[in-house]
Amino acid sequence: MRLMLCGDVVGRAGREAVCEHLPRLREALRLDLAIVNGENAAHGFGITDKICAEFYDAGVDVITTGNHVWDRREIIPYIEGDPRLLRPINFPPGTPGRGYGIVRLADGREVLVANAMARLFMDAIDDPFAAMDRLLAEHPLGRVAASVIDFHGEATSEKMSMGHFCDGRASVVVGTHSHVPTADHRILEHGTAYMTDVGMCGDYDSVIGMKKQGSVQRFVRKMPGDRLEAADGPATLCAVVVETDDATGLARRIAPLRVGGLLAPAWPDFAREPAPAK
Ligand SMILES: [Fe+2]
Ligand SMILES: [Fe+2]
Repeated sequence: MRLMLCGDVVGRAGREAVCEHLPRLREALRLDLAIVNGENAAHGFGITDKICAEFYDAGVDVITTGNHVWDRREIIPYIEGDPRLLRPINFPPGTPGRGYGIVRLADGREVLVANAMARLFMDAIDDPFAAMDRLLAEHPLGRVAASVIDFHGEATSEKMSMGHFCDGRASVVVGTHSHVPTADHRILEHGTAYMTDVGMCGDYDSVIGMKKQGSVQRFVRKMPGDRLEAADGPATLCAVVVETDDATGLARRIAPLRVGGLLAPAWPDFAREPAPAK
């Protein structure tokens, strides 16, 4: 099975990159499943039902989120009715929405997609390790054809720990939230594909997707400054592509994918078609 996860989509620039490239990427990479982290899709803060619909129209199967999930409050009543929009699984019991979903592909194969959030330098929430332990016991590889975990967190140590904690039990554990891609994509000892952070889909001539001046000023002066706005230059689509073995559910290959914008392009060497010119 081939699947792709796009990191945090930031603002209009990020949305346009995803919606423009995804149909072609699905074809060129023969993707069975496409996931995007949409927590910053609405002007950098949160997501709306209209943006969810845009993503689904472009070929997205599941949308994950993180600490910014509720920034647009209208998503709170919406999320209960959309099983494809996930919020972190380890938010306290009673929180609206779901932390995982089982996607059934056209050929009948089922894929577990889960979203968890880390705790180091983040909000105090329930234990993500205990939550993933329970979930992977309920949905082991074999019963599902593959499983993908978007672990949304700040600290590289916590994300790497989650990778090893799930190694051999999940097909893919990748990090989101830092908005910067890491170069450590690899297959762990027991067969789980791992990457500490996928990076954002957004304009990199920015501070993690927001316009430079306002963001820098917050550090230069200890003052809140103007409201942060999403940067609107050409975006780099940052994603990870994983191929899993249907017999075991474990990973065979993992590669970063970067298209457009300022970052150096990256294209999986197992793609059917050559990299796009730009
Ligand atoms: Fe984010
Ligand atoms: Fe985040």
